[in-house]
Amino acid sequence: MYTLQMYQESAAALQAKLGGFAPEALLILGSGLGFLAEEIAEPIYVPYGEIPHMRTSNAPGHAGRFVAGTFEGKKVLAMQGRLHLYEGYSPEQTAYPVRVANLIGVNKLLLTCACGGVNTDYKVGDLILMTDYINFTHPGLLVGYAGQPFDLTGFDVRFFDMGEAFDRAYRALAHQAAREAAIPLGEGIYFYTTGPQYETPAEIRAIRTLGGDLVGMSAVHEVLMARRCGMRVVGFGLVTNMAAGVLDAPLTEEEVLREAKNAAPRFSALVRGTVRGL
Ligand code: HPA
Repeated sequence: MYTLQMYQESAAALQAKLGGFAPEALLILGSGLGFLAEEIAEPIYVPYGEIPHMRTSNAPGHAGRFVAGTFEGKKVLAMQGRLHLYEGYSPEQTAYPVRVANLIGVNKLLLTCACGGVNTDYKVGDLILMTDYINFTHPGLLVGYAGQPFDLTGFDVRFFDMGEAFDRAYRALAHQAAREAAIPLGEGIYFYTTGPQYETPAEIRAIRTLGGDLVGMSAVHEVLMARRCGMRVVGFGLVTNMAAGVLDAPLTEEEVLREAKNAAPRFSALVRGTVRGL
């Protein structure tokens, strides 16, 4: 478990690398979606390994660095690659950069994920705005946090509201951005699994029965950390494949990365339009 001092040391190191640059929004770019960080103007690159206490990203399609700069007129800090439980990290380690970003003054989070389509109305390539999530994995990110004497920076509330994991106003903004760019944007509930294996068809049927529309291996701990820090969140899922059992075809990582590439122009336009209004 990290101490507040560790978070502060990481934040100080990141701020030192950024000089006087003060980002407002954190963009977390999922599998195959890191290309967006290449579109950031006057970039400052900070590999995760240069930040004390921070773990690095080993997943395919995840570069493992921060890219800070200007994007659609906003000062942003992008994560080109995120950390996952399936890489062997704890929930807190995967969400660590969110709180570090918050400590340097970032209070908005836009996250993107490659997802399996559970809802059979979806098709490969669909862009879906997350309206909520379901996390039934354990242990939870915040177990053990409450009441720790070191931690008096807003982490002293044990039971806190998650009625709006994804910010209502940001969701409206995302729909507006999609309309303006003439990009179809669906809505759905993200169901979290740790991975790294894809699900069984029976698991997908269960997830559908429970109310999941998308399935993926990330996002929820980042959202939880962000909400715990009082940050507002918007999340987009890209349906890179239909979930197990929907189509009679095996799932592969290549297909996930290929579909992410195919969706790049639409994805970029949607994220740009949303970031402009954050
Ligand atoms: N399941 C879980 N995570 C995923 C999938 C999937 O089908 N596709 C992309 N990420």
